[in-house]
Amino acid sequence: MIIPGSASQSLAASLADALDEPLATVETDRFADGEFKCRVPEAGGDRAVVVAATTSAEAHLELLLLQDVAGEAFDEVVTVLPYMGYARQDRAFREGEPVSARAVARAVSTGTDRVLTVNPHEPTVCEFFDVPCEAVDAASRLAEPLPDVDDPLFLAPDEGAIELAATVRDAYGTGATDYFEKTRDYDTGEVSVEPADTDVAGRDVVLVDDIVATGSTMSSAIEQLHARDVGEVHVTCVHPMLAASARTKLANAGIASLHGTDTVERPVSSVSVAPVVAERL
Ligand code: R5P
Repeated sequence: MIIPGSASQSLAASLADALDEPLATVETDRFADGEFKCRVPEAGGDRAVVVAATTSAEAHLELLLLQDVAGEAFDEVVTVLPYMGYARQDRAFREGEPVSARAVARAVSTGTDRVLTVNPHEPTVCEFFDVPCEAVDAASRLAEPLPDVDDPLFLAPDEGAIELAATVRDAYGTGATDYFEKTRDYDTGEVSVEPADTDVAGRDVVLVDDIVATGSTMSSAIEQLHARDVGEVHVTCVHPMLAASARTKLANAGIASLHGTDTVERPVSSVSVAPVVAERL
């Protein structure tokens, strides 16, 4: 049985279709003091797959509650974290900070037999779980919704995303790859990117990253490209988090299209990761 968290209802439905497994209806409500409650009336069977993007503190809590239901009613519990919140805090950047990804992973581990997560910022985050955890690479899915572009340049906004850009290019079937040098000031959050070597004048570019969160990384890259007379700029990412005014920032920076997957369910989630996740379940 597939048990969806509130933030992953479309993906859970696609997974239920792909695996031909029942999709649980989760009833949610609140106690008078505002605390969250949920119920899975049909819970019971061999295996529960809890699918929950932990895009907020409330989503983290909901996941723990759903795992608790599943642990009581099923022989095996698998947890799918399409988007793992706090995964980017995978080390203490300054003295006195927690390793938030580790704290979250330990909590999630208590209610499951294994974990699948999609394109975490660093696959090493899997080591923080106390149960087996696998990182699923959904980058190849990003090629599908891209428009037809003649000889595009697939650009990563930093060196860490170059493999992602290469995977999208391979799935797209044509084009070159390159990357920008990025630096981020961890006190102010300000991002600056240095242009890549490839000449982009008049050339259409697909910017590829694992996540668009505040949009600072992408909008800096887009500005650099327009300063160099780029053709059209298309943006794609696995996790379209699009926090605060990120969507507006990208529009104002000048993009022809924006695409993401359903690891984070947003209006731009134009392709599902269900096929690649289903293969691992
Ligand atoms: C960091 O290295 C990631 O790959 C992304 O580039 C980054 O997290 C995106 O965040 P934002 O949209 O806030 O710049």
